[in-house]
Amino acid sequence: MTILYPDVQESVDVYAPQHDSYLLIEAMTLSGLVKGSRVLDFCTGSGVVAIAAAQLGARTVTAFDICPRAVGCAATNAGDAGVDVDARVGTWADALAAGPFDVVVSNPPYVPTGPHAHSENIPAGVGSATAWNAGIDGRLVLNPMCDRAPELLSDGGTMLIVHSELSDTEQSLRRLRSVGLRSEVVLNQLIPFGPVLKARANWLESTGRLPVGRREEEIVVIRAEKR
Ligand SMILES: C[S@@+](CC[C@H](N)C(=O)[O-])C[C@H]1O[C@@H](n2cnc3c(N)ncnc32)[C@H](O)[C@@H]1O
Repeated sequence: MTILYPDVQESVDVYAPQHDSYLLIEAMTLSGLVKGSRVLDFCTGSGVVAIAAAQLGARTVTAFDICPRAVGCAATNAGDAGVDVDARVGTWADALAAGPFDVVVSNPPYVPTGPHAHSENIPAGVGSATAWNAGIDGRLVLNPMCDRAPELLSDGGTMLIVHSELSDTEQSLRRLRSVGLRSEVVLNQLIPFGPVLKARANWLESTGRLPVGRREEEIVVIRAEKR
């Protein structure tokens, strides 16, 4: 099957599509679930995943992001691609109020964030830290997403979430299963550390989350189904 990755314009302070964005689009395409479905892209950023959903024939695509600049960028990119995406500023609670959805896709912030994150030497031009910082265990957004996923999904609905092993894949699976969703890892990829993880490597090693000397991470797509 051919996977189509939309071209999007980058914008200052908006997360430019990366390995995780593309792995999520791949999982979404391979799922075959999007055509005719009501799709939510939570944490839309540039809108790249939302636009891919629209191009796959979604009935509707709703996209939320906490950052107004990202929402503006997603709306512009959708317009440029000639697809309908209802891009809105909002958080998890707003997405819940707009649901339920048949397919929920999300690439949330998931990078564990230590006490010295403010003084890290991260190069300019990698976007806003809101796109990746996610608390000490990387689960600030992941936990409510997993715990409240059933409320967001229609009966028979499916959620696809991408995140790093460094934010605890097993915990996501456990939480999703504990709220009654059938859950498994459907795709994974080993990728080299980018600038943020390079800056955090020593801290991650000191917490025991990262084996000493390792400078690559596995990203996973988890599929959770409401039956
Ligand atoms: C890793 S980026 C993903 C962007 C895009 N979906 C992609 O795959 O390329 C995460 C996005 O989540 C947004 N975000 C962070 N916290 C959020 C929250 N609590 N609710 C909604 N969006 C949030 C950030 O502004 C950022 O645009």
